[in-house]
Amino acid sequence: MAIRKIGVVGCGLMGGGIAQTCAQSGYEVVVREVNQELLDKGLARIHSAWDMMATKGKLTNGQVDENRSRLHGTLNLEDYADCDLVIEAVIENMEEKVRLFPALDRIVKPEALLLTNTSSLNVTQMGAVTKRPQKVCGLHFFNPAPVMKLVEVVKTISSSKDTIETVEQFAISLGKTPVLAKDTAGFIVNFLLIPYLIAAIRMLENGQASRDNIDTAMKLGCGYPMGPFTLLDYVGLDTTLWAAEAIYEEYKDPLYAPPPLLRRMVQSGMYGKKSGRGFYDYQ
Ligand code: 3HC
Repeated sequence: MAIRKIGVVGCGLMGGGIAQTCAQSGYEVVVREVNQELLDKGLARIHSAWDMMATKGKLTNGQVDENRSRLHGTLNLEDYADCDLVIEAVIENMEEKVRLFPALDRIVKPEALLLTNTSSLNVTQMGAVTKRPQKVCGLHFFNPAPVMKLVEVVKTISSSKDTIETVEQFAISLGKTPVLAKDTAGFIVNFLLIPYLIAAIRMLENGQASRDNIDTAMKLGCGYPMGPFTLLDYVGLDTTLWAAEAIYEEYKDPLYAPPPLLRRMVQSGMYGKKSGRGFYDYQ
């Protein structure tokens, strides 16, 4: 099946990055937000990323104009009707997802694929609330989506071979390297990354080392591009908490139990870079 038009649900950090990636790879893109303010904010972030790429000589002004003309914002789910593939990137909350998937299923054409960018939630459950579970799978991007080369393609017990092959080819057309993962909480990356991030928070809680020394140690000692606290702020403390909770819920393994400090920071609105405060201050 030829993929030409992409729907992206949500224009936050991940949805915006995914919409940007698709539009700059030549696809027509419709991205939807729940209100005009969030939509304007998300589209402005994408436009400024393209302006930055033009300033660096990575895009010509003509390419920026073409990208802009392929990207369409909307507040209306009905605008996905003629999309070949829709990627859901809304809040990591299963209630939201199981409300959204039947709505998408009713709106999009029968042959269209429905994908989720969830980082840890059960993809099988999202497919099960549609009449096309064989056309549902995960496509998990990493932040910043336009830059990070990996995507996890998550196959549920119902996803068809055709769906997975089409999605892998689609990922390659975006310049990404797809890895296939089973639909188990955390897939590959978060199953390994979340315990590391949680361990860093516990070290801080226990006073084993300072925030800055832990970050410096992992950057310079392991060659990671960011230390764990910089990465936590970058990914979002709320997103990390939801991922930890989802994996803990599935396995009840204490490795994934959210540390009290993480929960309290999220309760205080300290989500990291996006809210201006996390383990570091960005104001
Ligand atoms: N669009 C296009 N290009 C972008 C961009 C965007 N939105 N954001 C950044 N870039 C480009 C920059 O222009 C720059 O290009 P250049 O090298 O040609 O100048 C390049 O990306 C690197 O950006 P910067 O120079 O600003 O900064 P750094 O060199 O420090 O790199 C980073 C930034 C790529 C974020 C790097 O620090 C990094 O790889 N960090 C780790 C990120 C990571 O681990 N992400 C995964 C998190 S886990 C996750 O997302 C899963 C979730 O489910 C929890």
